[in-house]
Amino acid sequence: MAPGALADGAFTRLAAHSDEEMVIVTARAGQAVDGCLVGFATQCSIDPVHYLVCLSKVNRTYELARRSSALAVHVLHDTDEDRRLASLFGEHTEQDPDESDKLGQCLWTAGPWGLPILDGHDWFAGEIVYRYDVGDHEAFVLAVGPGGTPVPEGPPGHSVPRLGFQAVRALEAGNPP
Ligand SMILES: Cc1cc2nc3c(=O)[nH]c(=O)nc-3n(C[C@H](O)[C@H](O)[C@H](O)COP(=O)(O)O)c2cc1C
Repeated sequence: MAPGALADGAFTRLAAHSDEEMVIVTARAGQAVDGCLVGFATQCSIDPVHYLVCLSKVNRTYELARRSSALAVHVLHDTDEDRRLASLFGEHTEQDPDESDKLGQCLWTAGPWGLPILDGHDWFAGEIVYRYDVGDHEAFVLAVGPGGTPVPEGPPGHSVPRLGFQAVRALEAGNPP
């Protein structure tokens, strides 16, 4: 059997049941800003603190990220507002900026590196220290830098859960792969 032949079917089933925490990644290149919903993201080093974000090569956010030195990452919780943002940033593309204005439908300010920082969300930004071509996505490794935590932490076990993949899996991506 060819390597990966069986694993592919098994992996598809496992991936369908995974529940990665979703984030919104924002980018700036010159005056252009954008952001998209991302599931392929995780901390990937403790010392130094590095965070991995994989951006689809068909996304406009990716086009900006390629010309950027940093990205910002926003944590999502399972609230009505964050589900709205997941739909806004996951189902709409700025490939044609005349058709969509995602950031125009949000409150945000310019943060470090001029990156769009969404109001009321826990976030961090990081300089892009490595980039890898990993297939139809490109992996950006961020050296985690400044951030903000405006969302109050509840007592352990009582905070609002993060927004996971299963909660948004029915969304239709703005740029299908
Ligand atoms: C559930 C879900 C998960 C997604 N995960 C990713 C991801 O990990 N990386 C990515 O680049 N795009 C991901 N997308 C797709 C983008 O968020 C989407 O295509 C967006 O509309 C792109 O906008 P842009 O072209 O303005 O950047 C995901 C979309 C959905 C609905």
